[in-house]
Amino acid sequence: MKVKWGVIGCGGIAYRRTIPGMMLAENAELVAVMDSNKAAADKTAAEFGAKYSLDSVDDLLNIKEIQAVYIASPVFCHKEQCIAAAKAKKHILIEKPVGLTCEEAQELSAFCEREGVKLGVGFMMRFHGYHRKMRELIADGRLGEIVSARAQLTCWYPEMDNCWRQNRTLSGGGAMMDMGIHCIDLIRYITGLDVAAVTGMVGNQIFKYDAEDAGAAVFKLSNGALCYVDANFNIPDAAAKCKMEFYGTKGSIFAEGTIAQEEGGRIEVLCVEDAGDYDAAQNRDEIVPVKIDVKLGNMYTKEIEAFGKAVLGDGEIPVTAADAIRSQRAIEAVYESSAQGKTISLE
Ligand SMILES: NC(=O)c1ccc[n+]([C@@H]2O[C@H](COP(=O)([O-])OP(=O)(O)OC[C@H]3O[C@@H](n4cnc5c(N)ncnc54)[C@H](O)[C@@H]3O)[C@@H](O)[C@H]2O)c1
Repeated sequence: MKVKWGVIGCGGIAYRRTIPGMMLAENAELVAVMDSNKAAADKTAAEFGAKYSLDSVDDLLNIKEIQAVYIASPVFCHKEQCIAAAKAKKHILIEKPVGLTCEEAQELSAFCEREGVKLGVGFMMRFHGYHRKMRELIADGRLGEIVSARAQLTCWYPEMDNCWRQNRTLSGGGAMMDMGIHCIDLIRYITGLDVAAVTGMVGNQIFKYDAEDAGAAVFKLSNGALCYVDANFNIPDAAAKCKMEFYGTKGSIFAEGTIAQEEGGRIEVLCVEDAGDYDAAQNRDEIVPVKIDVKLGNMYTKEIEAFGKAVLGDGEIPVTAADAIRSQRAIEAVYESSAQGKTISLE
């Protein structure tokens, strides 16, 4: 059985990543694409063989055979389109962040529930084979008690005319809401821990647009571990490694290039059986990294297949709105902390 999909918004993520991934999904069929820019819809329909190319959301939602829509429009469009899709009884996979604010996101989540449609969120990096492996290792206790983590995602994002992402009222936030949200979402997903408190700062150092061009924050997790996330719009792509690290009382994981739009990068896992007594010399004996055997694939294909299964009644929604909103809330708290100059408690 295949889920018949409609896509709303045929820009960067949809055209370059998610639709190509959808093409490889065994339970998906692309029926229609829609973009307010008809040329973008036409190009996408022609390239991926969609039956309909449209520039009206209503026209797409009126297509009876469509069971699920993927909303990949700018964040300021999410609310209206999500509500319209839910009213039309379409299941919805919506890109992150769900809404401009957590309040808006919660409103959308509640609306979908009332309409009896499934709402999933596009945190596709949770499907990365290495991220799943890291989660498994930590759940198995291989790192002991998690005490620290760090994640970074950057891109080069100079000032551009009419760029919705550079305007907070259209995007909900800059580097932190756009990219830092993946970092904290992965830390939550991989450790299985939630955020208890946040201290952060955001600002504009290089680019003077309305949204921040950089942010950094310390997150206290529910077990007391202190984690660090930084997100920058002002570092050249080729000069960044987008690293992620997890530390526990029995070991650590170092990841490089896994927080990315493609399923790649590499990880190193270092574990000890017993940390032993205090060593005044702090000798760092070399240990053999744990052998990691993971077959990488296509995160978008996995994301579409998993949500498709939920639509077909054969599985849970892989990333629920409630879960995604916890990550968005953590980023909102970074903004609150930065504005108020104090730690924000989320408990
Ligand atoms: N999961 C990820 O890693 C990831 C990566 C990039 C973007 N995103 C998310 O995907 C969404 C889109 O981001 P993007 O980078 O693809 O943006 P984009 O600007 O590249 O593309 C947006 C597309 O939507 C179209 N559009 C504008 N207004 C519209 C409307 N009212 N109705 C329908 N289409 C409309 C534009 O013409 C454009 O083609 C955002 O929510 C963003 O945060 C997620």
